[in-house]
Amino acid sequence: MERMIAVDRLARPDNHILVPLDRMFQARVDQGFSPTAAMPHEEDFLKGRLHGIAVGEMQAMEAAGRTLFDFPDAPWEFQLDMARQVWDESRHTEIFAKLLEYLGSYIGEFPESEVLWSCTQVDDPACRVAGINRGLEGLACDVFEQIIRLAQRMGDEVIERAVDYVLADEITHVRMGSKWMRKLTEGDPERLKRALDFQENIDNLFNFQGGRTTQADAPQAPLDVGGREVDFDATLTIAREARLLAGFTDEEIERLLRSAARSAAY
Ligand SMILES: [Fe+2]
Ligand SMILES: [Fe+2]
Repeated sequence: MERMIAVDRLARPDNHILVPLDRMFQARVDQGFSPTAAMPHEEDFLKGRLHGIAVGEMQAMEAAGRTLFDFPDAPWEFQLDMARQVWDESRHTEIFAKLLEYLGSYIGEFPESEVLWSCTQVDDPACRVAGINRGLEGLACDVFEQIIRLAQRMGDEVIERAVDYVLADEITHVRMGSKWMRKLTEGDPERLKRALDFQENIDNLFNFQGGRTTQADAPQAPLDVGGREVDFDATLTIAREARLLAGFTDEEIERLLRSAARSAAY
């Protein structure tokens, strides 16, 4: 089997649309929306957000499997961790597929971004776990924490508990990524720097031109949930508590907030 397969080789039904992230952003601009994250007032906001997560879970499952396959010489314990992650992500895919059904949606209703898979196009397992486990799954902690708070405001225990259950796993995946990024680059500061730079590119991609805030600073916008309005964050917040549990340092969290603030100054 071939290593580092391209995104168009991912197995998807014919009616699924897989596009680069910048094309999704451009499509939003073309329709008169803000270029990055959907805003709470937009139609199908919650379905779209959960759909993005569901396909992210699917790609996370596929990516952990490919990392296991692509690096047969990596330590056995690394391979075991990747195999466990495939199992976790497959459960997450099922959970989010069921949550979509619960909201009257389905996998394939919205386009799927290629962003997670793009992190598998690097021939170093340290970069992969830095980009996917630390960058993207760190971002997942932020997104999940936000949805849990929304579900609490909606009084929807199904969404709240399901997402909380998945968040607990993501925290372990981030920790696993940190552990392996450090172990695989031990005694090789150049390689560690490459892995950290790879992660930083991902973090910067999702700082949304400075549109990210702490939970306390997030401006609120009304979200229609079944004919009722609840307030929801109009920015993507940074989940400090969850990120600390996941093993990010205070300095790393501050850096995320600073880089968001820096690009806001443009
Ligand atoms: Fe997951
Ligand atoms: Fe994960």
